[in-house]
Amino acid sequence: MIHFLALLVLAISLTSVLAQSPIWGQCGGASWTGPTTCATGSACVFSSQYYSQCLPNGSATTTTVSTTTVGTPTSTVSVPTQTGFVKTSGTRFTLNGAPYTLVGSNAYWLALGGYSTTDINKAFADIVASGGTTVRTWGFNEVTSANGIYFHLWSGSSATVNTGSNGLGALDTVIAAAKAHGIRLIISLTNNWSDYGGMDVYTAQLLGSGQPHDLFYSNPTVIAAFKTYVQAVVSRYANEPTIMAWELVNEPRCSGSNTVASSSCTVSTITNWASTISSFIKSIDSNHLVGLGDEGFFNEPGNSDYMYQGSAGIDFAANLKISTLDFGTFHMYPQSWSESNTVPWGQQWITDHATSMKSTNKPVIMEEFGITSSSTRNATYATWYQTIISTGLTGDLIWQAGSQLTNGPTANDGYAIFPTDPVYGLMQSHAAALKARG
Ligand SMILES: *[C@@H]1O[C@H](CO)[C@@H](O)[C@H](O)[C@H]1NC(C)=O
Ligand SMILES: *[C@@H]1O[C@H](CO)[C@@H](O)[C@H](O)[C@H]1NC(C)=O
Ligand SMILES: *[C@@H]1O[C@H](CO)[C@@H](O)[C@H](O)[C@H]1NC(C)=O
Repeated sequence: MIHFLALLVLAISLTSVLAQSPIWGQCGGASWTGPTTCATGSACVFSSQYYSQCLPNGSATTTTVSTTTVGTPTSTVSVPTQTGFVKTSGTRFTLNGAPYTLVGSNAYWLALGGYSTTDINKAFADIVASGGTTVRTWGFNEVTSANGIYFHLWSGSSATVNTGSNGLGALDTVIAAAKAHGIRLIISLTNNWSDYGGMDVYTAQLLGSGQPHDLFYSNPTVIAAFKTYVQAVVSRYANEPTIMAWELVNEPRCSGSNTVASSSCTVSTITNWASTISSFIKSIDSNHLVGLGDEGFFNEPGNSDYMYQGSAGIDFAANLKISTLDFGTFHMYPQSWSESNTVPWGQQWITDHATSMKSTNKPVIMEEFGITSSSTRNATYATWYQTIISTGLTGDLIWQAGSQLTNGPTANDGYAIFPTDPVYGLMQSHAAALKARG
């Protein structure tokens, strides 16, 4: 639990002719062969067996810890206080017995964007300055040829997990940077969509191309392969408190990007799968919370609104009752979902999920939301934020964070909020209001 007991400060030789790692750079880890000393003003701090990082003196939200040094001189560095795992209590999250306010951003590109450690730290710094406590990011990238950063490489029907620096090593870097900024992470383990591979890569490699998308949820060979990947990732980080929660999949639905749904896919197909995979995660990792990552569709057959009629294969209320899922998730894109009356539709969608939250007595988060019309965005989000506060919804993550990095702005699909955006200031006041509400 007290991970900074493992803290190791490497002696810094002031006269060393060896290369030093820059501030925020890597300085140790199982397969690390680079410099193990840090630039002036920083010290090498153990993060995990895979990663040690040069943290500036006095960085992040910190506790000052006296450390044992190797050789001379002795020194004192500040290390982030990432102790304890986020837990739930009724409709709220807690950390070490105190309320944990879930608010922040999505930044799927953190590990996959090929960014330097300096840039990743800049991205986290911008999120912290917006008031964020929590970031949701991708812990998957299914590929069939080895290029760039990838986590899971398929050759025919066999797959290997890439643990190198262009694989889970890149996720290690993100986790270390989150820790240094006092941020907790929600990590998704696959995608409904074909971005970064996702579910259809499993079904195509194992069952042949053109198979129904939903065989991902029901075919035993596919389930076994997904469990193998999940086990590799989850067990690697089972003791890492910077991770707040595992999330089974981003936006599960019966139908897929390249494939259609079979006629046998119903809401219970995904409910059964979510139950199986979440209990599997709990069996190998008792520390972390688990969520589904769905869009939160209700299953009211006959309802004229697609988001309420269960056709996508999601029954929000049923999934929230799964004992091995600790919290509920929903997304909200009224404009891209062709809902008219953007503002009131969104207020109702938030209110309906808050009602489920209360009746099931579990946290529920709006873990993605957005509109792309920048002229109405600030006013629209202000009303939605008010609804979150007034309904008592547990928390929210905006889609998506934006930062100006060394080579330009981060990915912008029209929803990104950069620090110069009017909404950035709104996020700050919303985060403050949520923290004050408890
Ligand atoms: C930072 O810490 C190192 C020792 O780790 C120390 O030598 C240095 O003086 C410190 N720098 C500042 C600016 O406090
Ligand atoms: C799953 O993927 C594809 C996206 O092209 C889509 O047909 C289906 O609606 C998806 N569900 C989502 C995005 O939740
Ligand atoms: C954004 O909305 C908030 C809440 O209504 C308001 O206080 C703030 O002035 C707005 N910001 C801009 C730049 O319009």
